[in-house]
Amino acid sequence: MSETILEVRDLVKHFPVQVGVLFKRTIGHVKAVDGVSFDLRKGETLGVVGESGCGKSTLAQVLMRLEKATSGTVKFEGRDIFGLKGQELRRLRRDIQIVLQDPYTSLNPRMTVGDLVGEPFEIHTEVAPKGDRQRKVQELLEVVGLNPEHINRYPHQFSGGQRQRIGIARALALRPKVIICDEPVSALDVSVQAQVMNLLDELQTEFDLSYVFIAHDLSVVRHLSDRVAVMYLGKVVELGTDEQIYEHPTHPYTQALLSAVPVPDPELRGRREVIRLTGDVPSPVNPPSGCRFRTRCWKAQDICATEEPPLTERLGHLSACHFAEEHPHVAVV
Ligand SMILES: Nc1ncnc2c1ncn2[C@@H]1O[C@H](COP(=O)(O)OP(=O)(O)OP(=O)(O)O)[C@@H](O)[C@H]1O
Ligand code: SF4
Ligand SMILES: [Mg+2]
Repeated sequence: MSETILEVRDLVKHFPVQVGVLFKRTIGHVKAVDGVSFDLRKGETLGVVGESGCGKSTLAQVLMRLEKATSGTVKFEGRDIFGLKGQELRRLRRDIQIVLQDPYTSLNPRMTVGDLVGEPFEIHTEVAPKGDRQRKVQELLEVVGLNPEHINRYPHQFSGGQRQRIGIARALALRPKVIICDEPVSALDVSVQAQVMNLLDELQTEFDLSYVFIAHDLSVVRHLSDRVAVMYLGKVVELGTDEQIYEHPTHPYTQALLSAVPVPDPELRGRREVIRLTGDVPSPVNPPSGCRFRTRCWKAQDICATEEPPLTERLGHLSACHFAEEHPHVAVV
């Protein structure tokens, strides 16, 4: 097992819900991330999957130190990122980068590709001396599969997939160790998705990168992930290796998500059961007592309303269900 590069413990991010114009009053909190723990190992990809609003992007923002945590710790290479200042914080800003979902809104339309990809060098001048920047930018464009001669073009002159490559080149500019990918392919066509995923895969090996890869769909992360964390309403409900999550999931929420993943083999498809979740995702301002999934769970018992199931080893990997067990008809093999 390789060493841990990012260690997350009991991470909490609550946003206050405020009313009033002149005198703001806090009437509650959005519990966007509510006690998340995991390790990211060097060189691995940890997939983070869950429905819209479960706290994935908030988690990403806190890991990037773009949002302040309400409580909990994040250690990068053994050092608490919230305690870093000055040079150490600058170094962190190089070491952890993010690739966002929407290449349209995350790239300034008035900047050329060269300026966009080279912008990080303006802030971290030590990485590339001024005279060397153009060459470095062209090198980066080549690495992500873009034509280096297109350095003076604008984002609108590229396709969606190419724009995401620009975003990736920008994230790579400072030679980071960790890249947080927040749904980088969700806005792309399926065929383009595969190309971008392949690129990320190749870059991981070439540049010795560790990824936190966020998606709302289990099928997207399978190809790339070594391990997968499934999130529901601000919490991780199941965490395991690729095989444990896709072939032996024990949490009902994971099983429901997995049952919606298409399988190519018609024979397997026939034997699978599609679990349709009823009811809406509850509000993260007032999550259900006990197990947060209980209002939509077909297995819920009295204890589920009174006792929160901890994320703990059950049947070989981490699962947060009092009645963790395999489901005979949902595995994707
Ligand atoms: N700055 C903020 N202020 C208040 N609430 C916020 C803020 N940012 C996010 N939230 C709330 O926190 C919860 C989690 O949001 P987040 O964007 O992290 O979810 P997500 O899993 O990334 O969803 P999606 O799949 O739609 O991107 C949501 O209820 C959201 O409305
Ligand atoms: S703890 Fe109870 S409500 Fe929660 S997932 Fe398990 S069975 Fe369902
Ligand atoms: Mg998001």
